[in-house]
Amino acid sequence: MKALILSGGKGTRLRPLTYTGAKQLVPVANKPILWYGIERIVATGIQDIGIVISPETGDEVKAKTGNGDRFKANITYIVQDRPAGLAHAVKVAQPFLGDSPFLMYLGDNLIQDDLNQFLEQFTQQQLDSLILLRQVSNPGAFGVAKVADDGRLLYLVEKPQVPPSNLALVGVYFFSPTIHDAIAELQPSARGELEITDAIQSLIEQQKKVSACQLEGWWLDTGKKDDLLEANRIILDSYLTPEVLGEVDAHSQVIGRVEIGAGSQVINCTIRGPVAIGQNCYLENCFVGPYSSIGDRVTLIDTDIDHSVILQGAKVVGIHQRIVDSVIGQRAEVTVAPRRPKALRFLVGDDCQIELM
Ligand code: TTP
Repeated sequence: MKALILSGGKGTRLRPLTYTGAKQLVPVANKPILWYGIERIVATGIQDIGIVISPETGDEVKAKTGNGDRFKANITYIVQDRPAGLAHAVKVAQPFLGDSPFLMYLGDNLIQDDLNQFLEQFTQQQLDSLILLRQVSNPGAFGVAKVADDGRLLYLVEKPQVPPSNLALVGVYFFSPTIHDAIAELQPSARGELEITDAIQSLIEQQKKVSACQLEGWWLDTGKKDDLLEANRIILDSYLTPEVLGEVDAHSQVIGRVEIGAGSQVINCTIRGPVAIGQNCYLENCFVGPYSSIGDRVTLIDTDIDHSVILQGAKVVGIHQRIVDSVIGQRAEVTVAPRRPKALRFLVGDDCQIELM
């Protein structure tokens, strides 16, 4: 059994962060989203992992994630020259996959459920495909499944205008090598992509053994800002272990579950967990409220922040109106003059959003 993680794509919904970086490397609780997926896969005992990367962001994914040693896995990188769809990514990875069955994992997805139970079902029942489903309130944004009353999978449809159910396809799939034949026959969809839903649909039509399971726990597709903040909230809530390696001065208060990385300095601040603060940060006269993740080398001075993600190297100074529900990109600077500002001066990149409320 092998695993294939899809970590290419366009990432249009997470612009501007994805102009300069891979969305799968955006940190959730200060760890790249992609790494949670790798850890979930390794926990099933699968060690041979292929990661599909794009020519634009692939080098960054490779440099950050490495050859797999840190996860006790063997990682092979596979370049997909253009984001031509999930099934296209499988096609490109065929030399790596060979005739092995495999687990396919979308690199921007996070799930709570352990994957072992699904792997066991896939293997024991000798399925051609096992897909995972989750009830959602907005099925039109996903691949959607229609399941018969007896639990059989009837059909799948990609981002339907009139969804046949509220069961969305989660970004984790199990396939036998028969999927390659189905993919070889595919034509691009209306949006010009080779759709994995079409390939699975063709397996269903050929009466292959395709089953579906419903996830019990949470599932997060971190492709958009609010989903990313929600993922950050859930991961901090579920997994953060308090640990203070940096320095906290006597005027500061650290309340609840807080992680502060080595080399970070916290001066005259109130930090109310769950909060993750990375390494070599500098925080002075700040309030950092629950569900905030502060990346490495971030500077926060005279600033109040809550339920937000600040990426590495960013600097925020002089904002005591609370910053909430915000994502601030790598090396971005947001500064307000000490006296009440009479003018606002911006250098804002493409597709940024600024709301003064
Ligand atoms: P999506 O989020 O469906 O697509 P996208 O990354 O292009 O994002 P957006 O819709 O915001 O433009 O992709 C799911 C995962 O699969 C994600 O980790 C990227 C990856 N992917 C590939 O590796 N190759 C592809 O051709 C596509 C479409 C996605």
